[in-house]
Amino acid sequence: MLKPLFSKRDIARTVKALAKRIEKDYKGEEIVFVCLLKGSFMFTSDLVRFIRNPSRVDFMRVSSYGNAMKTNGRVSILKDLEEDIEGKNVIIVEDIIDSGLTLTHVRRLLGDRKPRSLKICALIDKRCRREVEIEGDYVGFTIDDGFVVGYGIDYAERYRNCPDICVVVEGDDE
Ligand code: IMP
Ligand code: MG
Repeated sequence: MLKPLFSKRDIARTVKALAKRIEKDYKGEEIVFVCLLKGSFMFTSDLVRFIRNPSRVDFMRVSSYGNAMKTNGRVSILKDLEEDIEGKNVIIVEDIIDSGLTLTHVRRLLGDRKPRSLKICALIDKRCRREVEIEGDYVGFTIDDGFVVGYGIDYAERYRNCPDICVVVEGDDE
């Protein structure tokens, strides 16, 4: 069963506010947004359309989860960036920070490519589940434990098309 958590209006308001903060911080400089597929495709597309800085969008896909609800801590690159990010202002756009392992790996990988700056923008932070120390520079919602879907975020590849963000309540079908 899906229990609504954030409506599409809540999401739109939050994404706009994140975009404003980013605009203010980067003062007209170019930004490369690294969309971590698949979960942040909707978030990235909404975020960038509210940002007037010259922008590029590139995509990366890493895996660590399979269909399980918990990470196994291993991250491999399934699809790498197409752009060279050396000397660029890079913002990693992620759907959820959970244990923090995925972003720790991705940040290290991208940091090795010598960007001018490297920040993290996450739609959802599950801070209480952190296993390694990492903070998002721009965070939309902070939530407690619970598995969420919708707005691009899946459970076993389902529910990405749901316009709201919902909590999966286990035990029932649908
Ligand atoms: P971490 O490596 O544990 O921080 O996991 C982050 C990744 O796990 C995110 O990119 C999500 O794809 C996935 N994830 C974590 N929590 C959830 C959730 O509640 N719903 C769907 N995916 C999640
Ligand atoms: Mg993900």
